[in-house]
Amino acid sequence: MKKIILIFTLSLAVAAIAIISSSCTAQREIAAQKSGAELWAQNCIRCHNIPSPPSYTDVQWETIGLHMRERANMTSGQIKKIVAFLQTAN
Ligand code: HEC
Repeated sequence: MKKIILIFTLSLAVAAIAIISSSCTAQREIAAQKSGAELWAQNCIRCHNIPSPPSYTDVQWETIGLHMRERANMTSGQIKKIVAFLQTAN
């Protein structure tokens, strides 16, 4: 009887891990599909007013991207998209 309970608990744990990891993958894929403009609108407003593209030059946006990547805890892929958007829209 103990063995059955153990096996049952283990299979529940395996199922839970499978569900959790597949939902994480799905979320990462959704995040990867977001455009620079969407990422900018959703993330850069969390701590201060959203900076508009013409506020800075292309070179300044590069530096700000590095700086805000640390602050906002974003991936380099996300920041590249945001910086590219800010540079083309300014
Ligand atoms: C976790 C909070 C946070 C997020 C998210 C955030 N910022 Fe900032 N930002 C700051 C703080 C704090 C400052 C003030 C300067 C400093 O000390 O870093 C700042 C300053 C700035 C400045 C002024 C210039 C400078 O570098 O000091 C710009 C432009 C800027 N942020 C752009 C952005 C952009 C673009 C994003 C989105 C990628 C963003 N921020 C996301 C916290 C954040």
